[in-house]
Amino acid sequence: MNENYEYKVTAAGRVNIIGEHVDYCGGKVLPCALSLNNTVYIRRNNSDCINIEWTTLDEKVSIPLERLLDFSFHKYAKYIVGCAYLWREHGHRLVGCDLKLDCTVPFGSGLSSSAAIEVSVLAALATVGGELIINKEIAQIAQQAEHKFAGVMCGIMDQFVSANGKKDNALLLDCKTLEFEYIPIKLRDYSLVIIDSCKPHDLVVSKYNERRQETEEALRLLQNKLDVNCLADVSSEQLESCRDLLPPVIYKRAKHVITECERVSFTATALKNGYLAAVGAVLNASHKSLSEDYEVAGVELDTLARFAQNHPACLGSRMTGAGFGGCTVSLVKTDSVADFKARVLEGYKSQIGYDAKVYETDISDGIIIQKL
Ligand code: GLA
Repeated sequence: MNENYEYKVTAAGRVNIIGEHVDYCGGKVLPCALSLNNTVYIRRNNSDCINIEWTTLDEKVSIPLERLLDFSFHKYAKYIVGCAYLWREHGHRLVGCDLKLDCTVPFGSGLSSSAAIEVSVLAALATVGGELIINKEIAQIAQQAEHKFAGVMCGIMDQFVSANGKKDNALLLDCKTLEFEYIPIKLRDYSLVIIDSCKPHDLVVSKYNERRQETEEALRLLQNKLDVNCLADVSSEQLESCRDLLPPVIYKRAKHVITECERVSFTATALKNGYLAAVGAVLNASHKSLSEDYEVAGVELDTLARFAQNHPACLGSRMTGAGFGGCTVSLVKTDSVADFKARVLEGYKSQIGYDAKVYETDISDGIIIQKL
């Protein structure tokens, strides 16, 4: 369909195995890039405009390079405009071009469609501008686009794994230093199953930003007694010794972050050693913490996780992503996956009243650039 385009540039959606709501606290996270992704077809057009169209939308926009910000409130174009604007702000060359976007990450699923769009657009702009792709810089600019043009004060996890993910591997990322290592996902006779609660989630932005502020307050208060630069550097023992400094809600938020960081290290080791039952137990513990201490799960994700956890072939299940809707990820014996899906979907519908949805997807690479 796209014979006249010069390049095809893809970046991935993601599922986070563990390390939820810790990236903006300097913690480690363990996400995987998915084969659900965003592809940008791009060609130079020798004009002073960026022309955008989408395979899934009946809409076309033509944006003069000198008037990018006029489109920063456009429902769909704002992410692209934001990336183009910040790309130039960072000293890169922006050329007139035609883009066609094809996104297979379902919007609102919590599998990071926006990171996939931002990262692939930046990689595409770099490619037609004749520049080398520096994944780390692209992830950082994509994160800024999310902050400035979508209003979500997100961490770096989604954009980083969207750029750097690797097929059949999880990425253990230290969000403080941006150092990372790949951990092969070898699940033997088990599989990861991703199910969308399909909850319409409208409060995500405000609630997400509120949680981030709560963790910043926790750090500020703890710094009265501890010499630390981020919440991820605080141990559980230190938190307990400072409990009196924190209002109850702020204590719970900090407790989630600190215990979740411990769970990430544990999971990374367990995965490397193939201790899948241990991984499952930690997934369950993570969900409990996100539900009770961080309060980002809600009845839909709690219901979905509970039906999953109660299935005999499931080693563990948790919500993944920001929460307030979105998906669960479960570790399930492969030969029972069909029964697992049927029973979880049925249970969920009977309690919540509408259907959840299973996504078929694999662990894939991050940015892929193809000359057409
Ligand atoms: C969203 C954000 C990430 C991260 C997760 C929660 O996906 O974009 O930076 O904070 O929520 O772990």
